[in-house]
Amino acid sequence: MKLFALMLLTMMTGWANADEPAMSEIPDTLEERVKPCIICHRDADRIDRDAYFPRIAGKPAGYLFNQLRNFRDGRRFYQPMAILLENMTDEYMDEIAHYFAALPTTYPAPVAHALSPAESHAVETLMYSGDAERDLPACSACHGEALMGVQPYIPGLLGLPHAYVAAQFGGWRNGGIMRGQIPDCMSEIAKKLTQEEVNALAIWLPSRPVSGESATADALAPELARRCRTIVAGEGAAR
Ligand code: HEC
Ligand code: HEC
Repeated sequence: MKLFALMLLTMMTGWANADEPAMSEIPDTLEERVKPCIICHRDADRIDRDAYFPRIAGKPAGYLFNQLRNFRDGRRFYQPMAILLENMTDEYMDEIAHYFAALPTTYPAPVAHALSPAESHAVETLMYSGDAERDLPACSACHGEALMGVQPYIPGLLGLPHAYVAAQFGGWRNGGIMRGQIPDCMSEIAKKLTQEEVNALAIWLPSRPVSGESATADALAPELARRCRTIVAGEGAAR
């Protein structure tokens, strides 16, 4: 893995030496410079084969920016990628985030699930109603009625592969190195769910066809925005 990361770094020297003349005739565009990212984040084929590599094209720009900062600053952990972000400025990350957010994306086809009607019903209740007794807002209250996200900081929930959703919830629940070292609204929510609920929602979500648009920022109630603090406050991810 180390060698792979080194190889990527070599490919990206243009980033570190942006002022120096390029070694070859390759035009110095953002599109050229993010090629190493595409190795892992290329839309359809790689992601189908290895569902753990998330799609980034078409996700909200503020969300992508927050994640890049999290990886660079050690709040979210994936070493082969963090190495590439080490010397990047916030401004440059913002540019990259906007570049990927504007790219068209293809979503995987829905995967049929084998949940019982009672299990499906329980997931749908969490998605669209939440559980007031446990102080759990509906997922849709923050991720949008269509579950397609709320611009610019909250990602959609449809079209994410099972392995990826399950892994993210694992990180939030365990406070592990992957995600959730610093408590935020998602780790608080993830910790209130039972393991059975997490298993079921990670199966249910990929079974839903992707449709609809992300909502605009005014769809997020102030009370819920407060729960997520700086994530949705436009101050970046420092908290
Ligand atoms: C070696 C493979 C690899 C390379 C190269 C790579 N990434 Fe990643 N990236 C990953 C993996 C795996 C994750 C998920 C890690 C996790 O959740 O713990 C990820 C996560 C992300 C996320 C968060 C996605 C989300 O939905 O939360 C963003 C944004 C991202 N990468 C951007 C980039 C950019 C920009 C580059 C180029 C500078 C890049 N990545 C290069 C493998 C890679
Ligand atoms: C109070 C608002 C709020 C509620 C309620 C909420 N979320 Fe989130 N969720 C967020 C925010 C904010 C993020 C982005 C986190 C970040 O930037 O690290 C997020 C991120 C996610 C992600 C990561 C997606 C990706 O591309 O990596 C998943 C999966 C997720 N939420 C699932 C859920 C599910 C399932 C529920 C319901 C059980 C839920 N969320 C309820 C605010 C919320």
